[in-house]
Amino acid sequence: MKVLFVDGTIIGSKTGAVLDTVETYVRETNKDFAIERMDLASYEHQFVDGRPSEQYNEDMKKLVKKFEEADGYILATPIFQGSIPGVLKNAFDMLHPHTMRYKPVSIVANGGTHQHHLVVENQLKPILDYFRCLVTPNYVYTHAGHFDQDNRIIDEDVHNRLRELARVFAKYAEMSEYLSKDMLDAN
Ligand SMILES: Cc1cc2nc3c(=O)[nH]c(=O)nc-3n(C[C@H](O)[C@H](O)[C@H](O)COP(=O)(O)O)c2cc1C
Repeated sequence: MKVLFVDGTIIGSKTGAVLDTVETYVRETNKDFAIERMDLASYEHQFVDGRPSEQYNEDMKKLVKKFEEADGYILATPIFQGSIPGVLKNAFDMLHPHTMRYKPVSIVANGGTHQHHLVVENQLKPILDYFRCLVTPNYVYTHAGHFDQDNRIIDEDVHNRLRELARVFAKYAEMSEYLSKDMLDAN
């Protein structure tokens, strides 16, 4: 199973640091996952504006292909203005709505303060529900107070929650393997 680890920002470093940490735990939980990383900061983005898909640049086409080829996703997002970064939403806008259907997804999010943890519930999860992803009930929200000055996570409870997320993600991945991606309905 191919698992795509998406760092959904082009600014900052803590979101990527959380993704690194959860990657360690996912690798420990299931050694058979073929893990690939997608850092949106490494891509040249174009606004999704309704042009035919072949008219986008190579990076946008590569982004779509990597999402399509993956069997599951760990999504990492910072909180920007009480929501997700525009660049991550733009990446979602680029995908066919069936791309992530019935595939397992776990979320890690980082904000500057502890107040915005519900952004995952009311901003990101509705998009993934629209895509009909198998979103794990576990997600992990971190804030500046969970890190040392080298951006290492110093909060043991956060580590435990990331370990638990990895464990549940592996189970959802298993379930997804037995769930046919063929659909009876057209939409
Ligand atoms: C444009 C912008 C908007 C932000 N808005 C929020 C916000 O609404 N809530 C919040 O908790 N943090 C907010 N932050 C802080 C980011 O979530 C934080 O910078 C990010 O998670 C990465 O951390 P790092 O920059 O220390 O690596 C914002 C940061 C930027 C750059």
